[in-house]
Parts: sequence; structure tokens; C-alpha cells
Amino acid sequence: MVKFKGVIFDLDGVLCHTDEYHYLAWQQLAQQEGIYFDRLINQRLLGISRSESLEIVLERAGRTYTQAEKIRLAERKNELYRQYLLRMTPADLTTGAEKVLQTLEAAGVKLAVGSSSRNARFILDKLGISSKFQVIIDGNVLQHSKPDKEVFCKALAALHLAADQCLVVEDAVSGIQAAVSAGIKTAGIGKVIEQTAVDYTLHAISDLLPVVLGTGSQRHAFNNLG
Ligand code: G6P
Ligand code: MG
Repeated sequence: MVKFKGVIFDLDGVLCHTDEYHYLAWQQLAQQEGIYFDRLINQRLLGISRSESLEIVLERAGRTYTQAEKIRLAERKNELYRQYLLRMTPADLTTGAEKVLQTLEAAGVKLAVGSSSRNARFILDKLGISSKFQVIIDGNVLQHSKPDKEVFCKALAALHLAADQCLVVEDAVSGIQAAVSAGIKTAGIGKVIEQTAVDYTLHAISDLLPVVLGTGSQRHAFNNLG
């Protein structure tokens, strides 16, 4: 019997490396505006909405921006970001992710995406994996982005599963906080495993299989809470 009946995947930085494209687009925008920006500041943008990200980028601005200017800046960032997305193909799927999705699907595990991005469906289409997910909750249907639990509560409701039947896979502190606040167990991948406590540590996306299927040993995925 599988250990989790549903898995809710974050998108950027989990199923693909669009987190890097977000960084490059913000960096370009900041440079055009003469605002200092680096990878450390970028870490604070992971998982949060475009408009909230812009507010963080503008903390280093030498002047204040009107609401209309902020809307235009957010649009410009998205235009820069979409230039990268246009070039994406199924080859941009995180290494090992295709096999993970196929294996979980074959085991009858329900799959969802829970992302703050308004570009999520476009990216999933470019990756050729939209049809793998029963549920896609993205930035277009959210009032509040991560660390608010809304995205994961909506995913649970649409999956018809309870919090303790699911697992969230995340690369961002805000996403882990959102999952914890929704009462869902967490699997962290990437830098987040050094930044906050997660229930399962994934060194590669393939480490997810023994965790969800309840096979293998804790050598592959372990609880780093204690
Ligand atoms: C994800 C990313 C964030 C991004 C947000 C909004 O959560 O981790 O870095 O700001 O989506 O993305 P969007 O594609 O709507 O600008
Ligand atoms: Mg992410």
C-alpha cells in the first residue's frame, strides 16, 4: 500500500529549473532600473507572487515608484521571463521527474501542482506534462500566495484527499511554511533543506519514490527534524 495517496508538487525549482529564469529576469529588470539585486535577495522571492517579489526588489531602489509604475515593472519582468519560457521543451523537465510521475501515476497516486505562478499552465504545457496532473492550482486562482496555506488547501479539496494523505514537494521556505500550515507533510529539494526543517530530504527528485510508495529504506529519504 502506498504511503501517500496524493502528491502536490511545486513547479519552479521542483519539476523544472524556471527558478533560474525568474532570477535572470528580475536581475535584468533591476539592472535596467539601476537597482542592486543578487542571488541572496532572490532567495526571498521563491514561492511568492510577482507583485510581492517586486516589492522586495524595490527595497533597494533609490526612489519610490507609483502604483502604475509598479504594474508596468511587473509586466516588464514577466515579458523578460516569458522570453525564457518560450524556448522551453520537454527536455527542460528536471532529470528523473518523468519517471517519477509515470511511476506514481501507475501506482494510482493522485498528482497535483500547487504553484504561485500565473505562468504555471503554460510551463506545464511546454514540458508536455499537463495531463499528468488531476489538479493544477496556480497563481490565477489564489488570493494569497505562499506562505499562505490557500494553494495547498485548494489542492487538497480538488483532490478529495485529507492533509494526512498527501505530501508536498517544495524547494522554497515559503512553500514549506504553507504546507506545514495546511497540515501536510513536506519533502524538500534543493537549498531549502538547509534553510528549514522538512519531513523528508530529497537529494534528487527520484528520492521521492520510496517516500511515497513506502518502499525502500530511510537511507533514501530521511526525516531531518531530529
Ligand atoms: C513561483 C516562483 C516565484 C514567482 C511566482 C510568481 O512561486 O517561485 O519566484 O514569483 O511563482 O510567478 P509568475 O510566473 O506568476 O510571475
Ligand atoms: Mg519553487
